[in-house]
Amino acid sequence: MLEVKGIETFYGETQALFGPSLKVGEAEVVALLGPNGAGKTTTIRSILGLSPARRGEIWFDGQEITHRPTHEIARMGISWVPDDRRVFPTLTVARNLQIGTRRTRFRPWRLAEVVEIFSALELLMGRECENLSGGELQMVAISRALLGSPGIVLLDEPSQGLAPRIVQDVLATVRRLRAEGIAVLMVEQNALAALEVADRVYVMDRGLTVHEGPAAELLADTALRQRLLGL
Ligand SMILES: Nc1ncnc2c1ncn2[C@@H]1O[C@H](COP(=O)(O)OP(=O)(O)OP(=O)(O)O)[C@@H](O)[C@H]1O
Ligand SMILES: [Mg+2]
Repeated sequence: MLEVKGIETFYGETQALFGPSLKVGEAEVVALLGPNGAGKTTTIRSILGLSPARRGEIWFDGQEITHRPTHEIARMGISWVPDDRRVFPTLTVARNLQIGTRRTRFRPWRLAEVVEIFSALELLMGRECENLSGGELQMVAISRALLGSPGIVLLDEPSQGLAPRIVQDVLATVRRLRAEGIAVLMVEQNALAALEVADRVYVMDRGLTVHEGPAAELLADTALRQRLLGL
């Protein structure tokens, strides 16, 4: 579904990525972990064409997307849940969701199906997004991603700032996406939670991938986890 091959990405003259590689298969959940500043968000930004890779290749759904504009990449079926949620604050929930709705070659999603997953959304439809709580905003951001009819969803720190119960809801949603045939690349500080839901894991450090393997293996191997993640 998605393949990142040795990308190098810069902010101005400062190099942030030094050639990380990763793959996400169809309906696979992959966790992308690592310390602050490792390059996780930059990897997502490169996939989306927001911070294009200067070297290396990115492939999605059988096509190279390395140098394509962001709007084209989105229309091909890559949805994004940014770390700061990034909704239109003065627009209502309904309008934000409408703006995010797209058809792709993947399974289309209707608003009613999304509301079935996030039942609390129904009462919030007329509310301006600037008046939502963190958990409510995250629901809107994930719902908007789904309405984009994605083949893959890129989630950047989906549980950041959320109460433990809501974190469980987010993880349940990730499982639901996989069950619906959608691939997920999930960046998470809450590494244990991410490893519980993920099929495979990559660990990044200083702009490189330093580990790749089954999530269950890293979850079970305390010594390796301590060395790679400090927990
Ligand atoms: N807009 C920017 N301009 C310049 N440098 C940046 C910019 N954004 C990120 N960087 C640098 O690129 C490197 C990778 O940052 P990135 O945000 O990708 O890390 P991250 O793994 O997502 O970290 P975190 O866990 O803190 O979100 C860091 O050294 C960071 O300082
Ligand atoms: Mg980040």
